[in-house]
Amino acid sequence: MKSKLAIFGGRPLIKFLPPYKSPIGRDEFNEVFNRMVRKNSEVPSNPFGSSSIKEFEIKFAKYIGSKYAITTTSGTTALHLALESLNLPKNSEVLVPAMSFIATANAVLHARLKVKFVDIDKNFCLDPKDLKIKINKKVSAVILVHLYGHPANMDEILLVTKQMNIPVIEDACQSHGAEYHGKKTGNIGDIGCFSFFTSKNMTTGEGGMIVTSNKKIYLSLLSLRSHGNPNNENLPYIYNGMGYNYSMTTMQGIIGIVQLNKLRMLNEYRKQMFELYLSSFSGLPIILPTVEQNIKSAYHLFPILIPEKLINKRDEIVDALRAEGVPLSVAYPAPMYMAPQFFKKNNFWSCPNAENVSSRIITFFTDNNIKKNIVPKIKNALDKVLNYYLNEDFK
Ligand SMILES: Cc1ncc(COP(=O)(O)O)c(C=O)c1O
Repeated sequence: MKSKLAIFGGRPLIKFLPPYKSPIGRDEFNEVFNRMVRKNSEVPSNPFGSSSIKEFEIKFAKYIGSKYAITTTSGTTALHLALESLNLPKNSEVLVPAMSFIATANAVLHARLKVKFVDIDKNFCLDPKDLKIKINKKVSAVILVHLYGHPANMDEILLVTKQMNIPVIEDACQSHGAEYHGKKTGNIGDIGCFSFFTSKNMTTGEGGMIVTSNKKIYLSLLSLRSHGNPNNENLPYIYNGMGYNYSMTTMQGIIGIVQLNKLRMLNEYRKQMFELYLSSFSGLPIILPTVEQNIKSAYHLFPILIPEKLINKRDEIVDALRAEGVPLSVAYPAPMYMAPQFFKKNNFWSCPNAENVSSRIITFFTDNNIKKNIVPKIKNALDKVLNYYLNEDFK
């Protein structure tokens, strides 16, 4: 006899999940204590960058392979500064993929530019074919996203943007350490932006980083980050123009240095989880993610698509899985253009893949808070819930 779904009063398949463990722990706090208290060698913040902030930036740039790196308060402010540093024409358009965390598109509004949405490809990243259709003379920049840690199709995208001489910003907020044809994401376009939010592959609590190898952009970023100051410590109250206060604190920088040392190990765990989900879920009536050749993903999340037939049932399925005790998220339940600040009547944006995918997607966590022995139970829960919904006669 089939067991009753937990959401209808049956017994949940997963009764216990270990308590959440913060990704920032003893190692990070020892280093903060050591530098800031024991050695008393650091100021808590400095608009020109304390020595730990500069060390974090140099180490991150070296890791990514870029000439420069500059810390910011978040991935969102990294994207905002990246756009402003390019000095794009007023009222020009910036192309972004329809599916991402909302900050990707919001940053364009922060920079007082217009957003135009491009559909996604089979890896959930900006589709070069749709890019080719939507790019025109009004477009001044393209932001692409390495969604769920899988690099976007950079060769095809750059082929289009280079023809038009349009700068490319990589939103690498989910892809720390991912590689595309041997190059780290963030270091392939003109500017790369990273987030160090709690859930990311490495974290400073909140925080961000911009990488570039273009000196002019770098100098502009330094100035924009600190109120428009020309980045001259001897002239702290002189301004080149408009700017912001987007400086990271020294404590976050020190945490970042420790986390960067752990990134390889943290990413290895995510890779193992990804592969475990992949093998455990094979045979289920779902679409599994693929990793392209010559590509190293950062395995930020494990996305699956439920069957087309159940497209209107995703939220019920998610509720049923949660009732079974399954840890999951829905990243993202709608294309970004459904948010009120972008919404236009008559479906002006036309991104059918993003609409289909966002109605069918469920994402599973790969970080080391999820223990490997839970994956077979997640598989059983998926099997149980999908079976129920596939065999119900929904009229
Ligand atoms: C793809 C993407 N872009 C931008 C951001 C914004 O980063 P933050 O939360 O650090 O502002 C995030 C993080 O949540 C993200 O996942």
